[in-house]
Amino acid sequence: MKLSVIGCGYLGAVHAAAMASIGHEVVGIDVDSAKIASLTRGEAPFFEPGLQEILTEGVASGRLRFTTETSEAKGAQVHFIGVGTPQKRNGKGADLTYVNAAVDALLPHLSPGDIVAGKSTVPVGTAEALAERVAPTGATLVWNPEFLREGFAVQDTIDPDRLVAGVPEGPEGERAEGILREVYHTAVAKETPFIVTDYATAELVKVAANAFLATKISFINAMAEIAEVTGADVTQLADAIGHDARIGRRFLGAGIGFGGGCLPKDIRAFSARAEELGRGESVAFLHEVDAINLRRRERAVTLVVEALGGSAVGKKVTVLGAAFKPHSDDIRDSPALDAAVRLRGLGANVVVTDPEAIDNARRVHPQLAYERSTDEALRDADAVLVVTEWDEYRRELAPERAAALVRTQTIVDGRNCLDPKQWRAAGWEYRGMGRP
Ligand code: UDX
Repeated sequence: MKLSVIGCGYLGAVHAAAMASIGHEVVGIDVDSAKIASLTRGEAPFFEPGLQEILTEGVASGRLRFTTETSEAKGAQVHFIGVGTPQKRNGKGADLTYVNAAVDALLPHLSPGDIVAGKSTVPVGTAEALAERVAPTGATLVWNPEFLREGFAVQDTIDPDRLVAGVPEGPEGERAEGILREVYHTAVAKETPFIVTDYATAELVKVAANAFLATKISFINAMAEIAEVTGADVTQLADAIGHDARIGRRFLGAGIGFGGGCLPKDIRAFSARAEELGRGESVAFLHEVDAINLRRRERAVTLVVEALGGSAVGKKVTVLGAAFKPHSDDIRDSPALDAAVRLRGLGANVVVTDPEAIDNARRVHPQLAYERSTDEALRDADAVLVVTEWDEYRRELAPERAAALVRTQTIVDGRNCLDPKQWRAAGWEYRGMGRP
């Protein structure tokens, strides 16, 4: 099939390349000419495992191309909208500027029978309004939320847990569903659950899923706060409650909390939308989820300052990690960099290292010092703070080797990803999050 993908960020670039990899002819469109130039050369503009391979293959096959011209969407049967919906400047709600601009630019190039498939995360009610604008062209709007995780984006796009499609009622909706099933033919062949809903449900599925995941993380981080005053160990607690299949162990990783381009902004946008709808109280707990999450960043910093004897002034603190999570170079709302910036604000001489995210981090926080080599970053440190659980730190960093590099063997494990026994046995003073 011929497809267009408007917006070539994390979502769109991966979607375009993944759709080409399953046999479609795809044009990716973005207003950012530097990004389009990079993609056209077959170079991934950001780090995402597996993306480079399918991009190279797609571009070489001729099935995948990129342009800044929305007019080139003409002739595609399905047009995916994958532009960003950032947090508004006032912090209240999602900014729909890019979604509206993408739809405006697309409208003159739509033909009757085309499908416009919204993938961006939007406030409930957006699809209904967009459908009215698309209707005069004879095209059909569907809402097809995306649940990909960064670091697993290619896999999640090609082989998702489930597909959700919000469609209009009646034959138009049935036809649209059929076309989406053809688009996602590989997942459909594997009998991936394909849930067909109305627009509002499809929009809500996405924000509800992210709200639930954020709540799960903040729940365990709230338990970490209680563990801290009782001497309990939150990681054992998580293991023990996680064995209950109704609860499950995933997303019960206590630590410095969640960040990234989705969870923090999506829960805030959901709260704002619920308030607009007069149902603010229904999701009032999300304010608490956000507050707990932000407190954990503060807590990690406090643990470092305590370990330094009460003051960070003039002390070298090595921060292991800058990305908001491993397998990504994304630093949007990264708890790791938040902690690094706070420590610098307290007078510490902060050195940040990360296997993939240093360039992005340096652009946004040029005031911090960076070091590519973990060993060099650790040299003469007065304290070490682990904030992104890359394998480079979790598995490959031997406590004995690190001990030989630092000035003082003090480590704060902001992700509870190290084995305290092993680090203590090598002479380290180890502090975790919600662990004795
Ligand atoms: C999330 C959703 O998982 C995905 O379905 C949606 O499409 C986009 O938002 P992503 O932002 O890529 O994906 O990251 P995710 O793996 O969900 O992690 C989010 C944050 O939570 C990270 O900062 C991670 O470190 C943190 N986290 C995750 C924890 O602190 N503890 C956990 O147990 C799990």
